[in-house]
Amino acid sequence: MSEQKIHFHDMHPTANDLLEDVITGLQKSPRSIPPKYFYDEKGSQLFDQITELEDYYPARTEIKILQECKQDIVGLLNKGCMLIEPGGGSCSKVRIFVNELRPKMYVPMDISKQHMLDSAEQMSKEIPWLDIHAVCNDFTFKLVLPEGLPDTARVVFFPGSSIGNFHPQAAVQYLSDIASLVEESGQLLIGVDLKKNKNILERAYDDSKGVTAKFNMNMLTRLNNELSADFDLQAWNHYSFYNSEQGRIEMHLKSMCEQVVCIDNHEFYFAENETIHTENSYKYTIEEFQSLGVEAGLCAEKVWVDDDNLFSVHLFSVKSK
Ligand code: AVJ
Repeated sequence: MSEQKIHFHDMHPTANDLLEDVITGLQKSPRSIPPKYFYDEKGSQLFDQITELEDYYPARTEIKILQECKQDIVGLLNKGCMLIEPGGGSCSKVRIFVNELRPKMYVPMDISKQHMLDSAEQMSKEIPWLDIHAVCNDFTFKLVLPEGLPDTARVVFFPGSSIGNFHPQAAVQYLSDIASLVEESGQLLIGVDLKKNKNILERAYDDSKGVTAKFNMNMLTRLNNELSADFDLQAWNHYSFYNSEQGRIEMHLKSMCEQVVCIDNHEFYFAENETIHTENSYKYTIEEFQSLGVEAGLCAEKVWVDDDNLFSVHLFSVKSK
């Protein structure tokens, strides 16, 4: 067996937070649950299935942009960098350019531990020269690197339009956290979904195969399994729509009838058609997103889009002060 260049850093993310976050979110009006809780093992698998759907254009479009513009992108990125990927649990998109970029090390971060470990191990077999430091953390909360990693130029790769989960003001905060993480002369390569025709957007979040519905509903299964909640899955539906005023897709779970749900000594009364808001997915024009970056102290270097203007990949650098 060849030497495995894979290291694992467990920063113990969710363990104690799920119950508290769910209770707090369900007591709010309107009710909500943070989207990071979609990603238990089953949820991560379902999400990977979503990315392969015909109706879900973001994943394949971003892949196409990365493939077609690879030379251009790699030519602009720091050589020998530490390549950090928040939410990189599947280690998939980075494969497109990792052989050309030849980073000194690859640092995927994900909340879904086993999922990330499996992918990182697979990747390590396929790309034996690559030094992988897999970090299990809640990258939506705090971007910290484990101690003892070598001091080399940092590049954050944040694909998939995951930034879309944040409210624009929180996105600015997150982008400035990225700026502090990569430091001066660091870079950010980030995928951002574009504003477009409402039908295309709504189809992507309510696909004809029903995988997105399953993904959303899996949140309730998870609460039943992990918190002994008693959600009756027959009494809830997937509900999503484009909110054009806010520029975002909203995903909700909708109560089909009047009902009471128990979670850990708490009782929640739901009216018919009342919803639990599970996710926002913000869409931006190129200019809108560039100005968020600038607000966060980043400098817009370049942007790549596909021929149909569905999706964008931005390169930002950190301004020297
Ligand atoms: C992982 C947040 C980028 O918003 O498109 C896909 C999640 N939710 N289908 C997105 C998601 C439903 C996805 N992000």
